[in-house]
Amino acid sequence: MSSHDFAIAIMAAGKGTRLKSKRPKVLHEVGGKPLLAHVIRSAAAVVPAQNIFVIIGHEAERVRAAVANTGVNFVLQAEQRGTGHAIQCARGELAKFANFLVLSGDAPLIRPETIQRIRDFHMAQQAAMTILTALPANPTGYGRVLREGSTDRVAAIVEQKSLRPEQSNLGEINSGFYAFDSKPMFSNIDRLRTDNPHAEYYLTDMAGLLVAEGQKVVAIRAEDPDEVLGGNTIAELVSLDANMRMRKARELMAQGVTIFRPETCVIDEEVRVGSDSTVEPFVQLLGNTSIGENCRIRSYSIISNANIGSEVHVRPGCIIDDSSISTGAVIGPYSHIRPGSEIGQGAHVGNFVETKKARIGRGSKANHLSYLGDAEIGDGVNIGAGTITCNYDGVNKHKTVIEDAVFVGSDSTLVAPVKVGRGAYIGAASCITSDVPADSLALGRATQVVKEGWVKRKREQQPKKA
Ligand code: UD1
Ligand code: CA
Repeated sequence: MSSHDFAIAIMAAGKGTRLKSKRPKVLHEVGGKPLLAHVIRSAAAVVPAQNIFVIIGHEAERVRAAVANTGVNFVLQAEQRGTGHAIQCARGELAKFANFLVLSGDAPLIRPETIQRIRDFHMAQQAAMTILTALPANPTGYGRVLREGSTDRVAAIVEQKSLRPEQSNLGEINSGFYAFDSKPMFSNIDRLRTDNPHAEYYLTDMAGLLVAEGQKVVAIRAEDPDEVLGGNTIAELVSLDANMRMRKARELMAQGVTIFRPETCVIDEEVRVGSDSTVEPFVQLLGNTSIGENCRIRSYSIISNANIGSEVHVRPGCIIDDSSISTGAVIGPYSHIRPGSEIGQGAHVGNFVETKKARIGRGSKANHLSYLGDAEIGDGVNIGAGTITCNYDGVNKHKTVIEDAVFVGSDSTLVAPVKVGRGAYIGAASCITSDVPADSLALGRATQVVKEGWVKRKREQQPKKA
């Protein structure tokens, strides 16, 4: 380990009492991911995962399991006796590094650039403690930073509840992100006391302790005050989410995507959208979704983990999950494209059509009221209104194969396993239970019977009403 090595501690052991929730605070989701996952992601962009120590305590195993895939280390703070105590618990790991940063697991908007800025400023200043501060519109609830005049030097941090009346107008807040020089830090940390309204060991008291020792404590201000916002209450979490969604929408708009009324759209961080595509109000684009160029995604559609080509038109009210849609396809309104569907180039899937593990070939059309599950449908096929693949026998799922250029008449049921050969024609309302050879006509329905005059005779036989 070189002396340039930095560790990052992320405090994530708290319960989150103010959320009034059974779920641990750092696992509450904003921007489609747990708070803690965002903080780890930013930290891991600055130092390798093995230099990251997540301090867990409340529901430790649940928190660990949720982010274990990131490869970070965990430190247990079995009893949560404050932020200062959290760092005491990690002393064994952190003291091996000459310097380390501390981040809060409940402040997810922090960017890697800012973490780097704190580190660089801390090293350049050769400070014992460096505090990231901000000037938010409303500082209520945050600890306030007392500077020595207008210098970079800090005298102390005062928690909201301990503010004296004349301090209540202090606008510069403690973000909860710090850098420390390990030596002075750990030779003073045991001097923290719990004589405060929460009877906790406050990490923030380190500022005053170090200053009293003649150590250098400095502040660096965040350029964007929103970046340090924390989520202590549900209302704060919801506004963090809105903030994150807006950041993403702005990023896509800068890349040539039109998003009308972006404040109504929910777009996850990893989503990609090509230029000249348009997203209408009230659309959700989630997970690992990618959308090509020149697409139009109309209102009320929810698209998760989908791969959508270019020139695709998703009409209003569609749900698309874990599926792919090729160039020029038209989906909806109100289509349900379930996992494993592959909609071919220029295909149309229309209103009230549900697909599941269905491959629909180029230019094929299923425009109205159908269920197509476990189906392989070729190119240029017409699926009539109301067609149903009967894929399930109560125990197993079976496949329906419909080859190129088949015409399936409306209201047909195809009882799988079954195959309809190329170019065949199925009469409307047929129930198809055995394979149909290519180029043939299949009729699976009762022959129509007409009894002329039947109603008239019946009417004449009935006794007349009084
Ligand atoms: C803290 C700061 C406050 C600052 C604010 C910024 C203290 C005393 N106050 O207040 O000055 O303005 O952050 O958001 O530090 N945690 C543990 N173990 C514990 C207690 C907390 O790991 O024993 C974790 C929490 O899970 C959370 C983080 O530390 O992720 C911060 O704790 P929280 O209780 O939210 O502190 P704030 O009241 O927000
Ligand atoms: Ca907090």
